[in-house]
Amino acid sequence: MKIFLDSADIGEIEAHIASGFVDGVTTNPSLIAKSGRNILETIAQICEMVDGPVSAEVAATDFETMLKEGKKLAALAPNVTVKVPLTEAGLRTCRVLREAGTQVNVTLCFTAGQALLAAKAGATFISPFVGRLDDIGHDGMGLIEEICTIYDQYDMTTEVLVASVRSTQHVVDAAMLGADVVTLPPKILTALYKHPLTDKGLAAFISDWEGTGQSIL
Ligand code: E4P
Repeated sequence: MKIFLDSADIGEIEAHIASGFVDGVTTNPSLIAKSGRNILETIAQICEMVDGPVSAEVAATDFETMLKEGKKLAALAPNVTVKVPLTEAGLRTCRVLREAGTQVNVTLCFTAGQALLAAKAGATFISPFVGRLDDIGHDGMGLIEEICTIYDQYDMTTEVLVASVRSTQHVVDAAMLGADVVTLPPKILTALYKHPLTDKGLAAFISDWEGTGQSIL
């Protein structure tokens, strides 16, 4: 399962790239707004830092403007993935961009029916938002299971990109279901390393080691 970083913060991305776990980056208009920076400059900069796909989202809602925005974003770098919302105009834009060879991430997916349409429109990635579904008492991971089953059934090549991740358990659940990608807020990627017994065990090993007076180097 690939791990993308869900961030438009250059500092955060740089810090996590060193781990070697960042296979790509996703951004959205809210993350760009939070960064306080220009979208075109930010996406171009992230694309230079990361080898994998970098999702950059259109802001328009009508087909013609969305397509123009998508083409402009795609021209920034070869690893730009244009992100479009799961609307009729978004899927139309997805189809045209895919025919031109551009990678497309269809976002704001909340039902398996929507995911089916995105795959039929040729989406490279579908982004179901598990956390936002859980927030309203629905079953986010149940949606991932449904989408994976449908895509497997018809050998659909659209990759399931689990988005709106709120916990490390979401990551484990996504992996258990065979999702292709998870996009993680930096704090969740950091939390994946952690367990109190790892910290406790390491402290004991260090203390015992110091008692030996030895040095490996
Ligand atoms: C990523 O592609 C999504 O935009 C993001 O994961 C949404 O996360 P949120 O629900 O925490 O805003």
